[in-house]
Amino acid sequence: MNSVGFLNDFVDTPALLINEPVLQKNLKTMAAYCKNTGIALRPHTKTHKCPEIARRQLDLGAIGLVCAKLGEAEAMAEAGLGPLLVANQVIGPLKMKRLLKLNDQVDISVCVGRVEHVEELIRTAEGANTILSVFIELEVGMQRCGAAGPVAALDLAKKISDAPRLEFRGVMGYEGHAVGTKDLVARHHKAETAHHELALAVAMIRENGIEVPVVSAAGTGTFNLGVDRDELTEIQPGSYCLMDSDYHGYENVCDHFELACTVLATVIDQVDRRIVLDVGLKSIATDQGLPVTRWREDIIPFEIHEEHYCMEAGEDNPVPRVGDRLELLPSHICATANLYDEFHVFREQSLIARWPITGRGRYT
Ligand SMILES: Cc1ncc(COP(=O)(O)O)c(C=O)c1O
Repeated sequence: MNSVGFLNDFVDTPALLINEPVLQKNLKTMAAYCKNTGIALRPHTKTHKCPEIARRQLDLGAIGLVCAKLGEAEAMAEAGLGPLLVANQVIGPLKMKRLLKLNDQVDISVCVGRVEHVEELIRTAEGANTILSVFIELEVGMQRCGAAGPVAALDLAKKISDAPRLEFRGVMGYEGHAVGTKDLVARHHKAETAHHELALAVAMIRENGIEVPVVSAAGTGTFNLGVDRDELTEIQPGSYCLMDSDYHGYENVCDHFELACTVLATVIDQVDRRIVLDVGLKSIATDQGLPVTRWREDIIPFEIHEEHYCMEAGEDNPVPRVGDRLELLPSHICATANLYDEFHVFREQSLIARWPITGRGRYT
């Protein structure tokens, strides 16, 4: 029923599996693309939250890591990994304390999108008599965080470069609206437009005599779309390493990256063609659709509960029995990996490691 039956005696379910050669191939593919294009790679750790995978990304030439939250950055710093870019606005006295502590341990930058963000960082850096590193986040069409356009970005750049205790590292503009567009032509167009907007803001800052060392954008869906060395110095994809069934349905992503991760589940009940698995909302993400069964496309999911997944085996196909194991393909790997303490890593027919997901659940 599944190709990982050799794990039956070692790995209880639900469990998150990584096929290590596939992971390594994905990592090498992205590293080679960046090397050949002459663009730097700063992978996003939000996908795996796992220092072992981050270490492999750095070993293959990544210039640093992106983290979604301060907690994720702490997990990477605890493992001795960096430099780190928190692609988020870090706000409030409690986080400022943690940022200062991290800043003593590792090369860390955080994002700002408005004057208040800059002012809080100036106060923090001056109070601690230290230097804090800053990226400006530009809003490039996703309608999330970030400075709204070149003039707003220039205002922030001036304020940062005038602050003796802030170091201006660069501009980031994540084009999430393009990354998540399935149609390739539309995705390409949106990515190009977003990267041009980013380039426009960077040009305006440079014309005002302020150096912009780094220009960062892109995710797995746009890693090679509209990526021009005159506009971007680096890309920051996350999902490419493990992939998921949603991304695997994207042209120009599935051609480069393979599914490296599955959730192993056990059939705990069965009536006629209906089966129930021991996974649910607490062990697999569903925000990008109900996960499907690997190798058994005939098994149709129909309802998921907290700890139960109800599916139906197709006519003319064997019905899995109680105790059988099935591999599910996560539809959203970043949200799924965050539900587990560890990856079970296998190569060919052997379990080779358990990698702690130390950044999981560290939302603050
Ligand atoms: C700031 C930022 N950078 C990069 C990414 C790229 O992620 P992925 O490659 O998984 O699409 C994301 C995804 O949410 C993001 O929020």
